[in-house]
Amino acid sequence: MQTIHTINDLRQALAGQRSVALVPTMGNLHQGHLDLVAMGRRHADTVVASIFVNRLQFAPTEDFERYPRTLANDVQALTEAGCSVAFAPDERELYPEPQGFKVTPPAEIADILEGAFRPGFFTGVATVVHKLFNIVQPQVAVFGKKDYQQWLIVQRMVSQMALPITIIGAETTRATDGLALSSRNGYLSAAELAEAPQLQLAMQRIVEEHRPANQRDPSAIAASADRARATLEQRGWQVDYLTVRRRADLQMPRSSSDSLVILAAAKLGSTRLIDNLEF
Ligand code: PAF
Repeated sequence: MQTIHTINDLRQALAGQRSVALVPTMGNLHQGHLDLVAMGRRHADTVVASIFVNRLQFAPTEDFERYPRTLANDVQALTEAGCSVAFAPDERELYPEPQGFKVTPPAEIADILEGAFRPGFFTGVATVVHKLFNIVQPQVAVFGKKDYQQWLIVQRMVSQMALPITIIGAETTRATDGLALSSRNGYLSAAELAEAPQLQLAMQRIVEEHRPANQRDPSAIAASADRARATLEQRGWQVDYLTVRRRADLQMPRSSSDSLVILAAAKLGSTRLIDNLEF
C-alpha cells in the first residue's frame, strides 16, 4: 500500500487506474472502517482511504484538537485490510487558503437531527467530501450507514451535482454487545462502555413493539420513541434526539407504509454517541 500526502502525487498514482473506490475517513480507524475498505474492494480494483480530520465540520466547542491522530496505526491497519492507497493530506494541502467556497446542503435535510445540534456540520462534511471527490475522482465511494444522515446527504449531493460516483452505504459494524463501533467509543470509561449498548437496545425495543411491520401507526411509534428516550434518561443518558423518521428524507412518518429508520444521538458522560436502526 502507498501512503500519499499530496494531491499531485495522488493524481499521478491514480492515473490510468480502471476503477477507484474512495473510503473517506478521519482516521483513528477501527474494524468498521476496515469493513468499508473491504466493501470498496468488492466494487473497484483500487481502494483509496482518505485520512483527514476536517476542521470545517467541528464546532469551536467540539473535539477537533483532541480528536485522535493515529496515522502509523491507521496505515498498518489499511495495509492489512488490502487498501491500495492511504491519502493523508495535511491541512495546508487540503485547505491552502481559507475554504471560502463551500457546499451547503439544503436546510430541510441538513438542519435537522445532527444538524440541529451541530450547526454547520453538514456544510463542513459536504465541502470536504466534494473536494475529496474532485481530488480522487472515484467511480465508487463507501460511507457507513452509522452516519445515516451523512450518507443520505452525500447521496443527494451526488445526485443534484450530477457527480459520476456510485455511493455505497455499508451496514454498521457492531461489537458483540451491539454497540456501534465508533472512534469516539475510545473516550468512554469502563462503566460507560458497559452502558453504551443500551442505545441500540432502546431502538430494538421500539421495533419489537411495532411488529408486524404492516401495522405501524405513526403516532404510536412516536409514543414508543418518547418512552425509549425517557428510559435512557432515567439511566443517566442525556438524549439529544431519539426519533423515528422516513428513510427517504428523514421527515416524520405520515403513513403506515413508510419505510422507517430510528435515529438517536445521546451523551454518556461527556461522550456523544449516535446510532440508528432501520425498520
Ligand atoms: O464520517 C466521517 O468520518 C467524516 O464525516 C468524513 C465523511 C470522513 C468527512 O470528513
